[in-house]
Amino acid sequence: MKLFTGLQPSGALHIGNYIGALKPAVELCKEHSGMLMVADYHALTTLREPAELRANIINATRDYLAAGIDPEKTVVFKQSDVPEHTELAWIFQCLVTVPFLELSHAYKDKVGKGLEANAGLFAYPMLMAADILLYNTDIVPVGADQKQHVEYAREASAKFNKAFGETFKEPKERILEGIATVPGTDGKKMSKSYGNTIPLFGTKDEIAKAVMSIITDSNAESPTNVYAIHALFRDGDYLSTLYKDNKGKYKALKEVLVEDIEAVVAPMRERRDAITDEEVKQILAHGAVRARAKASAKMADVRQKVGVTL
Ligand code: ADP
Ligand code: TRP
Repeated sequence: MKLFTGLQPSGALHIGNYIGALKPAVELCKEHSGMLMVADYHALTTLREPAELRANIINATRDYLAAGIDPEKTVVFKQSDVPEHTELAWIFQCLVTVPFLELSHAYKDKVGKGLEANAGLFAYPMLMAADILLYNTDIVPVGADQKQHVEYAREASAKFNKAFGETFKEPKERILEGIATVPGTDGKKMSKSYGNTIPLFGTKDEIAKAVMSIITDSNAESPTNVYAIHALFRDGDYLSTLYKDNKGKYKALKEVLVEDIEAVVAPMRERRDAITDEEVKQILAHGAVRARAKASAKMADVRQKVGVTL
């Protein structure tokens, strides 16, 4: 079974991203032969700052390596290094209609908010379809928000196969649900847009500061918001004894939570600090060679089928 997933390089991760996306993706990549792509051309639909994009590509790759992706087993590469992705996206764009792309949630959200969507954002699902289909992918591990994009990839596959003969597989999404939606320090979903995050690769002090700011209901015996986050790091038996023994002692419980998060994060942080920019670049360059070999063979077949190879 072939696995393919992509990530948008978009700034510092929080523990919600780790539990909901990174950790399950790392586990799947250990079990299956997989490819992990940094979607830098997708990021260009919103980013206008070259230095920021460059830093985000390096950091996002480093985060996944620190979380346990093995770059020998998993092909780790960036989209822009394999031009076959944009080439195939063009062909798919020629096969789908404007009303079909107008159904995209990402596009509709932007337009709904009165913002101006660029043509890249409009065609985003066809680039993502190309990412997935170039590698004969069976399974696409993604967050629930990406389900529609995988449906678009299936449609692109079916439309191409119908027009030019059997060429692409129809991939399936595997929704990474993690254990649950991780709540933030205010009890709402942890999200970088709400400013309620606990940083994944922050220093211990930064993690402690965020944990201490978790809002607690002073009337309750057990601080629900603290418990909900704690439950992602420790099992129920340990927690029920701990919370029974520390009834009403919110500060003490938060201090234990900091230590329990730190126990998981510290080894990853150490690995992350040990990976240099140069190493990240080498891993991406090595991944690009491996990805290109597959992508160019597939595109030779596609070019032949559509009739541009003479
Ligand atoms: P944010 O909401 O902070 O902008 P993203 O939308 O960039 O996060 O999410 C990246 C990945 O992390 C997605 O796969 C998403 O499902 C996962 N994720 C984000 N926040 C949480 C959360 N609070 N709990 C579980 N998973 C999450
Ligand atoms: N759109 C995905 C996201 O924002 C990233 C992505 C790009 C991707 N290409 C992909 C995910 C291919 C899975 C497969 O998270």
